[in-house]
Amino acid sequence: MAGADEELRTALSEMRLVKDEFEIADLRFACEATARGFEDVVRVLGSAAPTPERLIEGTFRTRARVEGNDVGYGSICAAGPHATTLHWVRNDGEARPGDLLLLDAGVETRNLYTADVTRTLPVDGRFTPLQREVYEAVFAAQEAGIAAVRPGAGYRDFHEAAQRVLAERIAAWGLFGRRSAAEAFELGLHRRWTLAGTGHMLGLDVHDCARARTKTYVDGTLEAGMVLTVEPGLYFQPDDLTVPAELRGTGVRIEDDVLVTADGNENLSAGLPRRADEVEDWMARLRG
Ligand code: GLY
Ligand code: MN
Ligand code: MN
Repeated sequence: MAGADEELRTALSEMRLVKDEFEIADLRFACEATARGFEDVVRVLGSAAPTPERLIEGTFRTRARVEGNDVGYGSICAAGPHATTLHWVRNDGEARPGDLLLLDAGVETRNLYTADVTRTLPVDGRFTPLQREVYEAVFAAQEAGIAAVRPGAGYRDFHEAAQRVLAERIAAWGLFGRRSAAEAFELGLHRRWTLAGTGHMLGLDVHDCARARTKTYVDGTLEAGMVLTVEPGLYFQPDDLTVPAELRGTGVRIEDDVLVTADGNENLSAGLPRRADEVEDWMARLRG
């Protein structure tokens, strides 16, 4: 019996890999509602005074409850060094001016499909030069990752494309010592600061299709109708003595929900800005 249950779980997971029109429309709505939730957060984020992470969590959840069923997973409201913890869900700190806020949150619709979006925002509305440099490295990696999402590509391709860019940036900062980016990449040295994979399938579950076989998912090929996250990040732990002091405690992730189309991809969460300048302009507009 246990074997049959497992077989059924695997079959259902694999049937969910390609979404139909109804599912895609629902995920599109989830992303749109999520964008409105992020806007709500920017409006409560104090540019001069600290904002409790719990207030950020509650603000986003209100949007999720009003427009959807709930949040699709525990919102990660990670300010300052908390952003270096991949899944900071305690949310018991404060976002202070000068900090980055890593907000990873998604509205789950009433049909139970969820978005999974991350933006890393300068709490006071302006990136410092150092924050911007790290941000732009992650942005470049995400661009490379998204560009690798198309039908016929290997599932692993977008991960590799994004991680190579991160390794190049890390090498340019001198963090690999005398090793080249290519050499460090082969050895996996960048993973000290990239920590996680670059994405996953998205749908009814935030980590959708998790019971699919490796050969159909991780070792599989992208097909039109699949929806996946592209979410590279860089995380410099506060106590990481292998990086310059000014980098310690900095965490950046940018995460979007990407639909594989017949000839490439569509970013379903493009309603939220990603470029550093556009993030700053958007925050300034929302705060009037
Ligand atoms: N929000 C969980 C994840 O990005 O995988
Ligand atoms: Mn994700
Ligand atoms: Mn996420």
